Amino acid sequence: MRPSAFPRKIFALFVHVVLSAQFIRVYGVITLGSEVFCSRIPGLTSRQREMCRSSPDAMVAVGDGIRLATAECKYQFRHQRWNCTGIDNPTSFGHVVIVGSREAAFTYAISSAGVAYAVTSACARGNISACGCAPGPKLREPAPSGWKWGGCSVDINFGMRFARKFMDARELEGDERSVMNLHNNKAGRKAVKMSLLTECKCHGVSGSCTMKTCWKTLPGFRQVGDNLMKKYYRARPVTSVPSSPGPRGIDSFRRPRKVHLVLKKGKIAIKKMPKKSDLVFLQTSPNYCERDLAAGSLGTVGRSCNRTSRGNDGCDLMCCGRGYNTHQYTRTWQCRCKFHWCCYVDCDTCSERTEEYTCK
Ligand SMILES: *[C@@H]1O[C@H](CO)[C@@H](O)[C@H](O)[C@H]1NC(C)=O
Ligand SMILES: *[C@@H]1O[C@H](CO)[C@@H](O)[C@H](O)[C@H]1NC(C)=O
Ligand SMILES: *[C@@H]1O[C@H](CO)[C@@H](O)[C@H](O)[C@H]1NC(C)=O
Repeated sequence: MRPSAFPRKIFALFVHVVLSAQFIRVYGVITLGSEVFCSRIPGLTSRQREMCRSSPDAMVAVGDGIRLATAECKYQFRHQRWNCTGIDNPTSFGHVVIVGSREAAFTYAISSAGVAYAVTSACARGNISACGCAPGPKLREPAPSGWKWGGCSVDINFGMRFARKFMDARELEGDERSVMNLHNNKAGRKAVKMSLLTECKCHGVSGSCTMKTCWKTLPGFRQVGDNLMKKYYRARPVTSVPSSPGPRGIDSFRRPRKVHLVLKKGKIAIKKMPKKSDLVFLQTSPNYCERDLAAGSLGTVGRSCNRTSRGNDGCDLMCCGRGYNTHQYTRTWQCRCKFHWCCYVDCDTCSERTEEYTCK
């Protein structure tokens, strides 16, 4: 039997922060003052509320980060059965729960990455008073001769620190699921750091480039999303070994798996550790074919699919063998437009019969 050990309202934070982001847009920090502003954002833990009060300007970036992460998650999963739905739908709050699956791992990682990214980016724009440019990355490898770090490097460490404090403050339970979430939050932040780009400017007589000044910049967030998507496919299953048999019984923890994630006083004590940059999950994903809200699955009834594709978006896989409905419709648009002197445009109307397929 699939253990239903870790259902959790993982989207609580998303929903609240997305709501809050709207709230921020509507009311603004300045008009309300940070005290009132922060107390009106629903669903923050007391630690998060404290962070909001001490840097309300960074809260604006948190909202941006969550929106960025949500959009990226939807883009990356647009052809899959699980497609990130529910993340930003306030009315689904409390209904969309999800087990400690690979998808949950991705969700945490991308949101944590989004916050680290948006805060770092806001720092570089001068939008957060506590941060700005970084003096240049501490070099692990010596720079080739003629290089030096200069200009304005993004302060990724500030962004990562802020994201860690803010996003990790959610994990108060100290159970194995919290350990999983914290690990994936960290992997998400690391993915931002690993995606940074180096930009350089040449100096020297008539652009000879004998001397270069280089600095670190953020890539597009798509790059971070692509990297995390690769990690999603390679995510590692982990088992938690409870110190004493819990109420759920011990069976679900004893299946032999490669890696052991051990919980000790709420901290990770690992026997054989997945890399810090790996995503980890505790439970096998449902197949997301049927509607099962307890498992975080909305099912694929009514999803549109591609009849000729052999991939995940193809009707066979998307509809889980249930078959599909075909809708025919006529698409019309303006075409063969001609510009007449002077001044009007004359167009024909073109049309085409199209078919659309949706899962039964
Ligand atoms: C952040 O920076 C952008 C671009 O520089 C600016 O348009 C925006 O108003 C700033 N937002 C805040 C909250 O300072
Ligand atoms: C995502 O899945 C849900 C439920 O299966 C569906 O209602 C929604 O239209 C899908 N979104 C996209 C963009 O395909
Ligand atoms: C359907 O899949 C085929 C093959 O992968 C692709 O060429 C085509 O563009 C897809 N159609 C749509 C509407 O996405």
